Amino acid sequence: MSKVSHKRIVQKYYSKRAFDYDAQKARTWKSRTGFDAQIFNEITKAALNAEKGTVLEIGIGSGRVCFYLIKETEHCFAGIDLSKEMLKLAKRKLTSYRKKSNLLLADAEYIPFQDNTFNLVICMSTLHYLASPKCALEEISRVLKKNGVFIYGDVCMHEEDVTSFMDRLERTISPAHAKYYKPSEMRRLIEKSGIRVAKTKIISYRKSYASLIEDKAKYFNIKSEKLFHLITESTEKEKELYKIDENQMTLFYVIMIGFKVTA
Ligand SMILES: C[S@@+](CC[C@H](N)C(=O)[O-])C[C@H]1O[C@@H](n2cnc3c(N)ncnc32)[C@H](O)[C@@H]1O
Repeated sequence: MSKVSHKRIVQKYYSKRAFDYDAQKARTWKSRTGFDAQIFNEITKAALNAEKGTVLEIGIGSGRVCFYLIKETEHCFAGIDLSKEMLKLAKRKLTSYRKKSNLLLADAEYIPFQDNTFNLVICMSTLHYLASPKCALEEISRVLKKNGVFIYGDVCMHEEDVTSFMDRLERTISPAHAKYYKPSEMRRLIEKSGIRVAKTKIISYRKSYASLIEDKAKYFNIKSEKLFHLITESTEKEKELYKIDENQMTLFYVIMIGFKVTA
Protein backbone atom coordinates (compact mmCIF):
# COMPACT_ATOMS: atom_id res chain seq x y z
CA MET A 1 0.00 0.00 0.00
CA SER A 2 1.30 3.50 -0.76
CA LYS A 3 2.20 5.84 2.08
CA VAL A 4 -0.57 8.24 1.01
CA SER A 5 -3.27 5.54 1.11
CA HIS A 6 -2.07 4.41 4.52
CA LYS A 7 -2.18 7.98 5.86
CA ARG A 8 -5.78 8.29 4.57
CA ILE A 9 -6.67 5.21 6.64
CA VAL A 10 -5.07 6.82 9.72
CA GLN A 11 -6.99 10.07 9.08
CA LYS A 12 -10.30 8.26 8.62
CA TYR A 13 -9.72 6.24 11.78
CA TYR A 14 -9.02 9.35 13.86
CA SER A 15 -11.90 11.30 12.31
CA LYS A 16 -14.17 8.68 13.92
CA ARG A 17 -12.12 7.89 17.03
CA ALA A 18 -11.77 11.57 18.02
CA PHE A 19 -15.22 11.53 19.68
CA ASP A 20 -14.22 8.78 22.12
CA TYR A 21 -10.46 9.30 22.30
CA ASP A 22 -10.02 11.00 25.67
CA ALA A 23 -12.48 8.68 27.40
CA GLN A 24 -10.73 5.62 25.95
CA LYS A 25 -7.30 6.87 27.02
CA ALA A 26 -8.58 7.72 30.50
CA ARG A 27 -9.92 4.18 30.82
CA THR A 28 -6.54 2.58 30.02
CA TRP A 29 -4.10 5.18 31.33
CA LYS A 30 -5.79 5.93 34.63
CA SER A 31 -5.46 2.36 35.80
CA ARG A 32 -5.12 1.43 39.44
CA THR A 33 -1.40 0.85 38.89
CA GLY A 34 -0.97 4.56 38.12
CA PHE A 35 0.21 4.00 34.54
CA ASP A 36 -0.50 7.61 33.49
CA ALA A 37 1.18 9.05 36.60
CA GLN A 38 4.40 7.16 35.77
CA ILE A 39 4.40 8.39 32.19
CA PHE A 40 3.52 12.00 32.99
CA ASN A 41 6.12 12.00 35.73
CA GLU A 42 8.85 10.93 33.26
CA ILE A 43 7.90 13.39 30.55
CA THR A 44 7.45 16.30 32.96
CA LYS A 45 10.95 15.75 34.38
CA ALA A 46 12.42 15.70 30.86
CA ALA A 47 10.39 18.75 29.76
CA LEU A 48 11.55 20.74 32.79
CA ASN A 49 15.15 19.85 31.90
CA ALA A 50 14.83 21.33 28.41
CA GLU A 51 15.77 24.96 27.97
CA LYS A 52 12.69 27.21 28.16
CA GLY A 53 11.31 27.96 24.70
CA THR A 54 8.91 26.52 22.18
CA VAL A 55 8.11 22.85 22.26
CA LEU A 56 6.84 20.84 19.30
CA GLU A 57 4.50 17.92 19.81
CA ILE A 58 4.25 15.55 16.84
CA GLY A 59 0.88 13.78 16.63
CA ILE A 60 -0.56 16.08 19.29
CA GLY A 61 -3.92 14.32 19.00
CA SER A 62 -6.54 15.61 21.42
CA GLY A 63 -3.89 17.71 23.17
CA ARG A 64 -4.07 15.71 26.40
CA VAL A 65 -0.26 15.50 26.81
CA CYS A 66 0.31 19.10 25.79
CA PHE A 67 -2.53 20.31 28.07
CA TYR A 68 -0.82 18.63 30.99
CA LEU A 69 2.68 19.94 30.17
CA ILE A 70 1.60 23.48 29.34
CA LYS A 71 0.31 23.80 32.91
CA GLU A 72 3.41 22.22 34.44
CA THR A 73 6.10 24.05 32.46
CA GLU A 74 6.78 27.53 31.11
CA HIS A 75 7.18 26.38 27.51
CA CYS A 76 5.06 27.57 24.58
CA PHE A 77 3.69 24.74 22.44
CA ALA A 78 3.42 24.03 18.74
CA GLY A 79 1.62 20.88 17.72
CA ILE A 80 1.05 19.05 14.47
CA ASP A 81 -1.35 16.26 13.62
CA LEU A 82 -2.66 14.53 10.51
CA SER A 83 -6.26 14.59 11.77
CA LYS A 84 -8.47 17.71 11.64
CA GLU A 85 -10.88 16.21 14.15
CA MET A 86 -8.13 15.48 16.70
CA LEU A 87 -6.70 18.98 16.25
CA LYS A 88 -10.16 20.43 16.91
CA LEU A 89 -10.18 18.66 20.29
CA ALA A 90 -6.70 19.97 21.07
CA LYS A 91 -7.69 23.53 20.11
CA ARG A 92 -10.72 23.33 22.38
CA LYS A 93 -8.66 21.95 25.27
CA LEU A 94 -6.02 24.66 24.88
CA THR A 95 -8.46 27.57 24.48
CA SER A 96 -7.22 29.31 27.61
CA TYR A 97 -3.61 28.89 26.41
CA ARG A 98 -4.27 30.31 22.93
CA LYS A 99 -1.35 32.73 23.20
CA LYS A 100 1.03 29.92 24.20
CA SER A 101 0.00 27.37 21.54
CA ASN A 102 0.07 27.02 17.77
CA LEU A 103 -1.60 23.95 16.24
CA LEU A 104 -1.25 22.90 12.61
CA LEU A 105 -2.54 20.20 10.31
CA ALA A 106 0.71 18.63 9.13
CA ASP A 107 2.53 15.37 8.58
CA ALA A 108 5.35 14.12 10.83
CA GLU A 109 7.29 13.29 7.67
CA TYR A 110 7.18 16.91 6.46
CA ILE A 111 7.43 19.07 9.57
CA PRO A 112 6.58 22.66 8.55
CA PHE A 113 9.27 24.36 10.65
CA GLN A 114 12.82 25.50 9.99
CA ASP A 115 15.97 23.64 11.06
CA ASN A 116 17.13 24.05 14.69
CA THR A 117 13.87 25.62 15.91
CA PHE A 118 12.89 23.70 19.08
CA ASN A 119 14.46 22.97 22.46
CA LEU A 120 12.12 20.06 22.95
CA VAL A 121 10.20 17.73 20.62
CA ILE A 122 7.67 15.22 21.98
CA CYS A 123 6.18 12.33 20.08
CA MET A 124 3.85 10.02 22.00
CA SER A 125 1.93 7.02 20.68
CA THR A 126 2.30 8.18 17.07
CA LEU A 127 5.34 6.65 15.34
CA HIS A 128 3.71 3.22 15.10
CA TYR A 129 1.32 4.71 12.51
CA LEU A 130 4.20 5.43 10.14
CA ALA A 131 5.32 2.88 7.58
CA SER A 132 8.89 3.85 8.38
CA PRO A 133 9.77 6.13 11.29
CA LYS A 134 13.14 6.98 9.68
CA CYS A 135 11.83 9.97 7.75
CA ALA A 136 9.91 11.40 10.74
CA LEU A 137 12.90 10.90 13.05
CA GLU A 138 15.15 12.73 10.59
CA GLU A 139 12.60 15.55 10.50
CA ILE A 140 12.45 15.63 14.32
CA SER A 141 16.25 15.79 14.49
CA ARG A 142 16.31 18.53 11.84
CA VAL A 143 13.93 20.85 13.75
CA LEU A 144 15.58 20.20 17.15
CA LYS A 145 18.32 22.58 18.26
CA LYS A 146 21.67 21.05 19.19
CA ASN A 147 21.37 19.57 22.71
CA GLY A 148 17.60 19.86 22.38
CA VAL A 149 15.57 17.16 24.12
CA PHE A 150 13.50 14.49 22.37
CA ILE A 151 10.82 12.63 24.32
CA TYR A 152 9.56 9.51 22.58
CA GLY A 153 6.82 7.25 23.87
CA ASP A 154 4.90 4.37 22.34
CA VAL A 155 3.64 0.86 22.87
CA CYS A 156 6.50 -1.52 22.14
CA MET A 157 7.16 -5.21 21.60
CA HIS A 158 8.79 -7.30 24.29
CA GLU A 159 12.53 -7.73 23.60
CA GLU A 160 12.03 -11.51 23.51
CA ASP A 161 9.08 -11.38 21.11
CA VAL A 162 10.79 -13.23 18.25
CA THR A 163 7.48 -13.89 16.47
CA SER A 164 6.43 -10.21 16.49
CA PHE A 165 3.25 -11.27 18.28
CA MET A 166 2.38 -7.78 19.51
CA ASP A 167 2.82 -6.33 16.04
CA ARG A 168 0.65 -9.04 14.46
CA LEU A 169 -2.01 -8.51 17.12
CA GLU A 170 -2.21 -4.76 16.46
CA ARG A 171 -2.32 -5.31 12.71
CA THR A 172 -5.21 -7.75 13.17
CA ILE A 173 -7.36 -5.16 14.94
CA SER A 174 -6.18 -1.97 13.19
CA PRO A 175 -5.33 -1.43 9.51
CA ALA A 176 -4.11 2.04 10.60
CA HIS A 177 -1.23 0.42 12.46
CA ALA A 178 2.10 0.24 10.62
CA LYS A 179 4.69 -1.26 12.98
CA TYR A 180 5.68 -1.76 16.60
CA TYR A 181 9.35 -1.95 17.57
CA LYS A 182 11.37 -3.52 20.33
CA PRO A 183 12.95 -0.82 22.55
CA SER A 184 16.42 -1.80 21.29
CA GLU A 185 15.28 -1.39 17.64
CA MET A 186 13.69 2.00 18.28
CA ARG A 187 16.74 3.18 20.18
CA ARG A 188 18.92 2.31 17.15
CA LEU A 189 16.57 4.19 14.82
CA ILE A 190 16.48 7.27 17.05
CA GLU A 191 20.26 7.28 17.39
CA LYS A 192 20.71 6.97 13.61
CA SER A 193 18.89 10.30 13.28
CA GLY A 194 21.53 12.07 15.41
CA ILE A 195 19.75 11.93 18.77
CA ARG A 196 21.52 10.13 21.63
CA VAL A 197 19.16 8.23 23.91
CA ALA A 198 20.07 8.95 27.53
CA LYS A 199 17.21 7.19 29.30
CA THR A 200 14.82 4.36 28.52
CA LYS A 201 11.95 3.38 30.77
CA ILE A 202 9.47 0.60 30.06
CA ILE A 203 6.14 0.67 31.86
CA SER A 204 3.76 -2.27 31.74
CA TYR A 205 -0.01 -2.14 31.99
CA ARG A 206 -2.93 -4.50 31.58
CA LYS A 207 -5.34 -4.10 28.69
CA SER A 208 -8.56 -6.04 28.25
CA TYR A 209 -9.50 -7.55 24.90
CA ALA A 210 -12.82 -5.71 25.21
CA SER A 211 -10.99 -2.37 25.20
CA LEU A 212 -8.72 -3.40 22.31
CA ILE A 213 -11.88 -4.06 20.32
CA GLU A 214 -13.56 -0.88 21.55
CA ASP A 215 -10.52 1.35 20.78
CA LYS A 216 -9.47 -0.20 17.48
CA ALA A 217 -11.27 -3.13 15.77
CA LYS A 218 -14.72 -1.50 16.15
CA TYR A 219 -13.76 1.40 13.84
CA PHE A 220 -12.83 -0.99 11.03
CA ASN A 221 -15.75 -3.38 11.51
CA ILE A 222 -13.25 -6.11 12.38
CA LYS A 223 -14.93 -8.98 14.18
CA SER A 224 -13.73 -9.76 17.71
CA GLU A 225 -13.31 -13.42 16.64
CA LYS A 226 -10.19 -12.42 14.71
CA LEU A 227 -8.52 -11.15 17.88
CA PHE A 228 -9.67 -14.12 19.92
CA HIS A 229 -8.37 -16.51 17.28
CA LEU A 230 -4.90 -14.93 17.52
CA ILE A 231 -5.04 -15.04 21.33
CA THR A 232 -6.16 -18.66 21.40
CA GLU A 233 -3.50 -19.69 18.91
CA SER A 234 -0.69 -17.88 20.75
CA THR A 235 2.29 -20.01 21.78
CA GLU A 236 3.22 -20.70 25.38
CA LYS A 237 6.11 -18.25 25.02
CA GLU A 238 3.82 -15.47 23.69
CA LYS A 239 1.36 -16.17 26.54
CA GLU A 240 4.18 -15.89 29.04
CA LEU A 241 5.70 -12.68 27.60
CA TYR A 242 2.40 -10.81 27.47
CA LYS A 243 0.76 -12.55 30.46
CA ILE A 244 -2.17 -13.51 28.27
CA ASP A 245 -5.27 -14.71 30.13
CA GLU A 246 -8.92 -15.11 29.18
CA ASN A 247 -9.77 -11.43 29.40
CA GLN A 248 -6.64 -9.36 29.23
CA MET A 249 -2.93 -9.14 28.51
CA THR A 250 0.08 -7.03 29.46
CA LEU A 251 1.23 -4.30 27.10
CA PHE A 252 4.50 -2.41 27.34
CA TYR A 253 4.93 1.33 26.88
CA VAL A 254 8.44 2.65 26.33
CA ILE A 255 9.60 6.18 27.04
CA MET A 256 12.97 7.31 25.69
CA ILE A 257 14.61 10.61 26.48
CA GLY A 258 17.31 11.74 24.05
CA PHE A 259 19.46 14.73 23.16
CA LYS A 260 20.36 15.92 19.70
CA VAL A 261 24.09 15.51 19.39
CA THR A 262 24.65 16.66 15.80
CA ALA A 263 24.84 20.32 14.76
C1 LIG B 1 -2.68 7.52 19.55
S1 LIG B 1 -2.84 9.19 19.02
C2 LIG B 1 -1.70 10.01 20.13
C3 LIG B 1 -2.09 11.41 20.42
C4 LIG B 1 -1.27 12.05 21.56
N1 LIG B 1 0.13 12.11 21.22
C5 LIG B 1 -1.49 11.28 22.84
O1 LIG B 1 -0.51 10.70 23.37
O2 LIG B 1 -2.63 11.24 23.31
C6 LIG B 1 -1.91 9.24 17.50
C7 LIG B 1 -2.03 10.56 16.77
O3 LIG B 1 -1.03 10.58 15.74
C8 LIG B 1 -1.58 11.23 14.61
N2 LIG B 1 -0.78 10.84 13.45
C9 LIG B 1 -0.67 9.62 12.88
N3 LIG B 1 0.18 9.67 11.83
C10 LIG B 1 0.64 10.95 11.77
C11 LIG B 1 1.54 11.63 10.90
N4 LIG B 1 2.14 11.01 9.86
N5 LIG B 1 1.78 12.95 11.11
C12 LIG B 1 1.16 13.60 12.12
N6 LIG B 1 0.29 13.00 12.97
C13 LIG B 1 0.03 11.70 12.79
C14 LIG B 1 -3.02 10.74 14.60
O4 LIG B 1 -3.85 11.55 13.81
C15 LIG B 1 -3.37 10.77 16.08
O5 LIG B 1 -3.91 12.00 16.47
